[in-house]
Amino acid sequence: TCSAGDSQTLVIGLAADSGCGKSTFMRRLTSVFGGAAEPPKGGNPDSNTLISDTTTVICLDDYHSLDRTGRKEKGVTALDPKANDFDLMYEQVKALKEGTPVEKPIYNHVSGLLDPPELIKPPKILVIEGLHPMYDSRVRDLLDFSIYLDISNEVKFAWKIQRDMAERGHSLESIKASIEARKPDFDAYIDPQKQYADAVIEVLPTQLIPDDNEGKVLRVKLIMKEGVKYFSPVYLFDEGSTISWIPCGRKLTCSYPGIKFAYGPDSYFGNEVSVLEMDGQFDRLDELIYVESHLSNISTKFYGEVTQQMLKHSDFPGSNNGTGLFQTIVGLKIRDLYEQISASRAQTPLEASKA
Ligand code: ADP
Ligand code: G6P
Repeated sequence: TCSAGDSQTLVIGLAADSGCGKSTFMRRLTSVFGGAAEPPKGGNPDSNTLISDTTTVICLDDYHSLDRTGRKEKGVTALDPKANDFDLMYEQVKALKEGTPVEKPIYNHVSGLLDPPELIKPPKILVIEGLHPMYDSRVRDLLDFSIYLDISNEVKFAWKIQRDMAERGHSLESIKASIEARKPDFDAYIDPQKQYADAVIEVLPTQLIPDDNEGKVLRVKLIMKEGVKYFSPVYLFDEGSTISWIPCGRKLTCSYPGIKFAYGPDSYFGNEVSVLEMDGQFDRLDELIYVESHLSNISTKFYGEVTQQMLKHSDFPGSNNGTGLFQTIVGLKIRDLYEQISASRAQTPLEASKA
C-alpha cells in the first residue's frame, strides 16, 4: 500500500498588499529551489500562475468571487472577504495538498473578469500568494509555513509613487487617494494576518538619517516565530543574546548613512520571536560575505550561498538592503523545511516496512 503522506504537497502562504514585493520574493524563492518559475505553457496568457520543476505559485486573486464590475456595483474592494470565495480556496488548496488536481479559476487582471479555469496539478511545493492566505482559518491550517511582508505606510507610499508615477503616469494626488481608499479594508482584513505568520519581513524607514522621508534607505526586520517545527530562527553571533552590530570598518565599505544590524529575542502578538534587523544598505554586494559569515542557522548548503544568490539577482529590487537579504534567507529556510519534511516522510514507510 502507498502512504498518502509520500506525495503530500508542502503548502506555503505568502501574504502582502499588492505592490509590496511578492513577485520579487517569489523569484528569489524559486531561484533558491534551482529554477525560475514560468507561466503555464499553452494556457491562458493572462494566467497568474507560475510553475517550475518543484514549485507552483498560485495567486489568490483567482479566488475573487466578484469581478471588477461586481465589486464596483456592490461597493467593495478586492481586499474585502465578501469579494473572495474562501470555500473554493479551501477546497482546492486541500485537494492539491492531498495530491488531487483542480480546475482553478483565473482572475484576469487586464479585463477584470473571471476567465475559464485552468488545470493545476499537485506540485512538490505549492505557494499561495496574495491578499488573504491566512485569513480563513481552514486555509490557514493547511499551511506548512507562512510569511507576511509588512511594508510600512511610508515605504509603501514611496514604492507606489516610484511605480505608478514613473511607469504608469498616475498623478501624486491619485496615488494618495487610492492608498487612502484601500486603507480601512487593508487594516481590517489584510494587516491582522501577520499575527499568524511564522516569519514576517517588516520594512520601515531608516533610523540612520534623521527625519528621512525619501523611503530609499530602509530598516528591515526579520521576525521569526520560535517553536515552529523544522524552522530554527537565524541568529547573529550568539543565539538568544541581544546584539547591536555596526560592521562598517576594515572589512566592509560603508558610505553614509552606514549599516547597522541588531538581533535579539522579542515578543510579537503574544508569541515568542527572534528578530534580526538591518538598517542601511550595502555599497558592495560581494562584501556581503562578511556579514553572511557572522550569521548562523541560515540553512545554506555551502559557505557564501546567501551572497551568491544576492549577486545572482543583483538587478532585483532590494538587492542592496535587508529586503533582498532577508527574502533570500527565508527562501533558504523554506528549502531546508522542505528537505526536512521530505526526509521525515521518507523515513516513516521505511520503518513500517522494517516492522
Ligand atoms: P507585488 O507582486 O506584491 O505586486 P512586486 O514584487 O511586483 O510586488 O513589486 C512591486 C514594485 O514595488 C516593484 O516594481 C518595485 O518598484 C517595488 N519594490 C518591490 N520590492 C522592492 C524592494 N525590496 N525595494 C524597493 N522597491 C521594491
Ligand atoms: C487585484 C489586486 C488588488 C487590486 C485589484 C484591483 O485583485 O490584488 O490589490 O486592488 O486587483 O481592483 P479594482 O477593483 O480596482 O479592479
